[in-house]
Amino acid sequence: MVKICCIGAGYVGGPTMAVIALKCPEIEVAVVDISVPRINAWNSDQLPIYEPGLEDIVKQCRGQNLFFSTDVEKHVREADIVFVSVNTPTKTTGLGAGKAADLTYWESAARMIADVSVSDKIVVEKSTVPVKTAEAIEKILMHNSKGIKFQILSNPEFLAEGTAIADLFNPDRVLIGGRETPEGFKAVQTLKEVYANWVPEDQIITTNLWSAELSKLAANAFLAQRISSVNAMSALCESTGADVTQVAYAVGTDSRIGPKFLNASVGFGGSCFQKDILNLVYICQCNGLPEVAEYWKQVIKINDYQKNRFVNRIVSSMFNTVSNKKVAILGFAFKKDTGDTRETPAIDVCKGLLGDKAQISIYDPQVTEEQIQRDLSMKKFDWDHPLHLQPMSPTTVKQVSVTWDAYEATKGAHAVCVLTEWDEFKSLDYQKIFDNMQKPAFIFDGRNIMNVNKLREIGFIVYSIGKPLDAWLKDMPAFI
Ligand code: UDX
Ligand code: UDX
Ligand code: ADP
Repeated sequence: MVKICCIGAGYVGGPTMAVIALKCPEIEVAVVDISVPRINAWNSDQLPIYEPGLEDIVKQCRGQNLFFSTDVEKHVREADIVFVSVNTPTKTTGLGAGKAADLTYWESAARMIADVSVSDKIVVEKSTVPVKTAEAIEKILMHNSKGIKFQILSNPEFLAEGTAIADLFNPDRVLIGGRETPEGFKAVQTLKEVYANWVPEDQIITTNLWSAELSKLAANAFLAQRISSVNAMSALCESTGADVTQVAYAVGTDSRIGPKFLNASVGFGGSCFQKDILNLVYICQCNGLPEVAEYWKQVIKINDYQKNRFVNRIVSSMFNTVSNKKVAILGFAFKKDTGDTRETPAIDVCKGLLGDKAQISIYDPQVTEEQIQRDLSMKKFDWDHPLHLQPMSPTTVKQVSVTWDAYEATKGAHAVCVLTEWDEFKSLDYQKIFDNMQKPAFIFDGRNIMNVNKLREIGFIVYSIGKPLDAWLKDMPAFI
């Protein structure tokens, strides 16, 4: 019986291991983490992450061949394959601050593996890491290995949150990179056999280590680049009277381009895109490729521009001030069907509005008040560094309220901003919301999910990203 251990019980490690346990009943899978509350939650009825379909799988396998534990060393020692899925934040201080990946957690995991191992192991990079991390990890393992043999593989995960289980069940591809030596090929084959339990073999791609590491950064950069491209177009659409949805549809029907990832939005968020692109930029700079670095940096710049533009649109439409005005925020998660708020555009939009002294009232069906307060008090890049949390400033606390009801959030508000595309926002009673708001009542749709014509009939002034503007908005001097 093969034993697998995964270090890091997060958004990637948890669902991935649950699916491996489900699909491979003969493999024992242990997911370990240093965080006691996180492991306790995985062992309870209230899982630490919200992901459709995950709970059923965990209930089915937990205690059978799937275990969650804080006894990291024991499970690592017993495993044949060790996945490492710990956080890799952006560095906040020192060399490469604001760009480079902070590999502190990775390094400590590697040292621990070397310390506790008493048998040969395959060590698998699961979290996204800079290219050539495997080489560094290999060095740590080899220098401390007491004659034990380690094979390093890169097996980046491509799942997206909100659809993690479907993505894991039916991946476009599984990518495994390894050393091009007989031992390396053997290790790749061992991991391939795990996935072959449910993934067709021709969808399991094998490459060298560096190609696998770079492919993950490249895939995320390409996806984010599509969003920045369509968001750049959305600004031009607003200036010219074109409709970005129509343009994206027309462009996406070209089979060479394809229809996915062309939804204009207030900006992309999530734990990967910005972090991975910054990392890519840093790697290019370190390799003497400033032009390539500049090219990818633009993807982030347009994303920041799009978030700023949205805030500026709100403020300029409302007579250039939102001071003491109640602004309702519908949706705080970085996308629908997740409670994850890492790098969500809502943080930047809310901070922008708070900077203009708005009173904001937030409703999201999956995000707690505690999480929102923490996010709004954090500095840029601090979110993945658990030790750097800071208390929220008293002024911010006074300006922010969080409710569990969309009608409560919008009551008495001057404006409503839709920042996450939750399905339930499409079917709210907007007549009721309008009746309870200050007039003129504004809606700023950052996700293009609203029926703009219907809202205009009710009496709202509506702004929807990349759509032709209301006469009101056209007349206001916009500082975008
Ligand atoms: C292009 C568009 O494809 C077409 O839809 C539009 O109507 C006119 O412009 P064309 O310029 O004739 O067509 O050829 P295309 O096949 O797009 O190639 C353009 C250039 O890109 C060529 O130099 C080609 O060699 C290059 N190319 C294309 C690459 O370098 N890599 C690729 O993957 C594809
Ligand atoms: C992403 C990649 O899709 C996944 O392959 C990788 O493993 C991790 O990073 P994730 O961040 O979970 O996954 O979600 P994704 O669906 O990619 O969305 C990222 C952000 O882009 C969200 O804020 C989303 O709202 C936004 N987005 C996505 C758009 O604004 N427009 C689109 O058309 C698609
Ligand atoms: P991802 O989205 O990549 O899954 P998360 O931040 O959700 O990232 O999860 C990473 C997990 O790794 C966290 O729960 C953290 O506590 C855990 N972790 C970090 N370092 C270690 C370590 N040395 N040993 C065990 N777990 C660790």
